[in-house]
Formats: sequence, structure tokens, C-alpha cells
Amino acid sequence: MGRNLIVKNTSQIVTPSGRSAVFGKEMGSLKIIENGAIIIEDGIIKALGKEEEILKDINEENYEILDCKGNAVLPGFVDSHTHFVFGGYREEEFSWRLRGDSYMSIMERGGGIVNTVTKTREASFNELYESGKRRLKTMIDFGVTTVEGKSGYGLDLETEIKQLEVMEKLNKDSDIDIAITFMGAHATPAEYKEREKQYVDFIIEEVLPKVKDKAEFCDVFCEKNVFSIEDSRNILLKAKELNMKVKLHADEIVPFKGAELSGEIKAVSADHLLKASKEGMDDMRDNKVVSTLLPCTAFSLKEEYAKGREMIDRGLAVALASDLNPGSCFTNSIPLIIALSTIYMNLSIEETITALTLNGAAAIDRSNVIGSLEEGKQGDLIVLSYPSYKFLCYNIGMNLVDKVVKNGCIIKK
Ligand code: NIG
Ligand code: FE
Repeated sequence: MGRNLIVKNTSQIVTPSGRSAVFGKEMGSLKIIENGAIIIEDGIIKALGKEEEILKDINEENYEILDCKGNAVLPGFVDSHTHFVFGGYREEEFSWRLRGDSYMSIMERGGGIVNTVTKTREASFNELYESGKRRLKTMIDFGVTTVEGKSGYGLDLETEIKQLEVMEKLNKDSDIDIAITFMGAHATPAEYKEREKQYVDFIIEEVLPKVKDKAEFCDVFCEKNVFSIEDSRNILLKAKELNMKVKLHADEIVPFKGAELSGEIKAVSADHLLKASKEGMDDMRDNKVVSTLLPCTAFSLKEEYAKGREMIDRGLAVALASDLNPGSCFTNSIPLIIALSTIYMNLSIEETITALTLNGAAAIDRSNVIGSLEEGKQGDLIVLSYPSYKFLCYNIGMNLVDKVVKNGCIIKK
């Protein structure tokens, strides 16, 4: 059974509303239906409302029943920024960082991204597939029903395509949906050392035309000593010409005007933004670019958090995501994101929920189909182990996701 499902006996159904990103203070308004129920048919939400009203003329025998036993129901989480397909690990580098070495100094010594590139090139398709699958399982456990994943640990045509095809196969085979991003401009590979410009040309002229149908998005690590504003602009404009949607890693380490660039080229999202300027924030708001904040990365790098509170107060649409990767942030813990967002970034739990659901969906251009519980959207939802969504920040660092439903099928029982 599955796909035709009734979700009942809830304490509350809690959801943002709408089919696009939510900006500014509206992020704090969630719709709450006490004692609600949801009817899902063929994986799509057919009706939701007070249980006594919407179930009164329904023959429940035609449906699988999910009894929530008096607990709260929310939309499935959307982790809109990860690098979850990679070979090897970098646990040694992490202990160097704990000793005080900076992320950039490790990169300059040949560690960092290029270290994972060597291991990802060596890994077989099957090894990447199996480790990716294990990571998806942990995501589902945390209530993630859609995830974005990036290439960018190949930095040559063959390995970039291998990463993209691993995600394509995982998307077909697994319960969770994957939005696929090409990120060949993640670092310059060793074979292009001192020839950075030629690597950018290689991406623009040779790689993008070959990957355009294998990835929905193109992302660039726009940062001092990585890819300049000009190179980032050229890569992303070429990607747009090829009908890809674009994103940026922007203003993570130093102020670099990446947020401004994201507004100028109307990116779907700009991500990190620890050092984004006020002008850049306003450019993002005015051009409807989603600001994706990755607090676990700031935590792991011992950096100051992005100014999420200020961004919301200035009217921006903020999303929260994990940035799971083997270097700067080897965690995809949704409870940790929630703790950092509410305790250190001063977002309310309501804003945090919007950032992890509807705005996460908007950050991967899917807010018309997922991210909130509304008629016509996909039946992607979670049941908590408590009756109120407020436990999500109160029960710090704990996984409160008891059940997960994807397209009307119960994938965590
Ligand atoms: O989003 N900032 C650049 N890229 C990743 C880190 C990748 C790595 O360290 O392997 C990030 O943090
Ligand atoms: Fe990242």
C-alpha cells in the first residue's frame, strides 16, 4: 500500500504557506491546524484541515492510515545545499583545524577540496553510489525529503560526470528526491596550477555544454583566491545561456561582493554569506535571490555566523541547509542546524521551520511543488515525537522525527 494515505490523530499540522519563497517577517507566520488531518491521493495532498471536517465523508478503508498518536506534523525538510557524493575523508585535516590551522591555510598546503578530488577520482561509480546511499539514509532519518547535491570533487570532465550520474541513479533508486548541481568551479585542479584562467575556459567551453542535461543547477565557489567575481559571472552566465539555473557560494571567507553578483545575475540562491555586505543583502532581496545560510559550516570552522536575523529584518528570504561535505562541514544534522539557528543566529523557531522547508524548496526552485503542506503539493511530511513543533528547538540537538512520508509513502516507520 502507500501513496493513498490518511494522516490523522495529529495534535497540530504546522506549515508555511505559498508557492514561492517567503521574505522578511512573513517567515515567522506559520499556519497551525489543531487536530488536523491530511488526505493524500497518488502522492499529492488532496485535502487538509480539521480532522472532524475533512474525514467525515471519507471511506477510510480506501487508504493506508498513519495514526500520529497526538503528535505534530510538518512538511518534510529540504536540505538545499550539500556535497554528499565524494570519495574518502579528511579527518586528519579536521584535527589540524582543531589545533588552530585555518581552512584556507590547509587549502594552500594542498589539503582541502583537492585532497577529496584525488580520492573521488580514484573511487568507482559503485563506491560513490553506496556511500551516497548511506548518507541519504541518514538524511531521511532526520526528516529530509528532498536534498540538493553538488559535483565539484572531480574537476575533470570524466569525474564530474561520474558524480552527476551517481546522483542521477540515486535519485531514481531512492525514496528521497535529489536536485542535481554541477560545481566544476569548486577549485582549480592541480593540473591547471598557475593556469587558472585556462581552467575557467575549459569549464565554459568544454564542460558546461556536456553536463547541461545532467544537472539542473550550476554553482561556483566565488571567493578570494578561488574564483573571481569576473570568472564566476562568466561561468554562471554561460550556464544560464545553456538553460541551467544558477547558484553561488558567496562571501564565505572574506567580503567579496558575491551577494551583489547573485542579485545582478538573478541567481536562484546565494549560499554561506557570512561576510555579505548590506548592499549585497539588499541586492539579493530586490532580485528575489534566496539567502541560504549554513550554520553548521560556520560552527565547524569556528567562524561567526551569517547575519540571519539582520537579513530577515531587511526583508530577505532566508533558507537553512547543512552543506554536508568532507571538509568544512562533515555533518548533515538537522537538529544542529535548528539549535544554531535559534540559539546563535536569533531566528525564531517559526522562521527556522520556514527556512528549512518552503524557503529551502525555493532555493532549489521547487517551492511550487514542495516545502509546505497545501492542496496540490507533494505529500512529503514528517511526524514528530512530541505534540508541539516548539520541541524542535527546546529539545536541543535531538532528532525528534518519528515518521517520514514521501509522496504519500511512509519511508521512516
Ligand atoms: O561549501 N566552500 C566551498 N566548498 C565547500 C567545502 C568543500 C570542502 O571543504 O570539501 C563548502 O563549504
Ligand atoms: Fe558548499
